[in-house]
Amino acid sequence: MLCIGHRGAMGYEPENTLLSIAKALTLGVDWIEIDVHNVEDNLIVFHDRLLSRTTNGTGYIGDYSFADLRSLDAGKGQQIPTLAEVFDTVDRRCGINIELKGSNTAGLVINLIQEYINRGWQYDDFLVSSFNHYELKQVKDTCPQIAIGSLIYGLPLNYLEIATELNAVAIIPSLDYVTKNLVKNIQNRGFKIFVYTVNETEEINAMKLLNVDGIFSNYPDRVLRAIATEDF
Ligand code: G3P
Ligand code: CA
Repeated sequence: MLCIGHRGAMGYEPENTLLSIAKALTLGVDWIEIDVHNVEDNLIVFHDRLLSRTTNGTGYIGDYSFADLRSLDAGKGQQIPTLAEVFDTVDRRCGINIELKGSNTAGLVINLIQEYINRGWQYDDFLVSSFNHYELKQVKDTCPQIAIGSLIYGLPLNYLEIATELNAVAIIPSLDYVTKNLVKNIQNRGFKIFVYTVNETEEINAMKLLNVDGIFSNYPDRVLRAIATEDF
């Protein structure tokens, strides 16, 4: 079971900041997950459309210039990072799951991944996921080597067909919908199942017993502890 640090290690440091990524790396995650938006053709690492929950700004990110967003405090004096800064911070010490949160992000993400591939990184270093399957399709059609994770809200009837059409490697449901049957259906069709967002130790242990392939957690240390613990 892979341990995927959610927005870095957001249980411990301000989410989607370089500090959070560094914390996740210190804890020993296999992967980190971060969210990206396109602002004036720059990829910023940020979750919400509104600024107020996680920064000292107000209003919508879309109403700000890239320079103005970079002047905000995203917690503990951290800047909102660019995706390139996240790649440089990780420096291939774990995998990077890029969630395309905003629209018009696919093209920029493909270009950036290809830039790092040209510098010696591998496609295996990346997983691109999104609830926006049109963005994901653009990724797959443009650069089939990039691994795709099909994020799903709820449990749509056609979740297997969608993943097949996207040629995804993984289906990523919410913990709320994960059952033994769901895990079996996904894995029997050759997909991995990564589950978001699993924070409580009881839930982490339950996912381990179901043999899911990976979990996103705000507290990666709890996941790593559960992985290291002998089965009960
Ligand atoms: O990618 C898993 C999870 O991050 C999706 O939900 O809202 O935390 O981006 P959210
Ligand atoms: Ca996310």
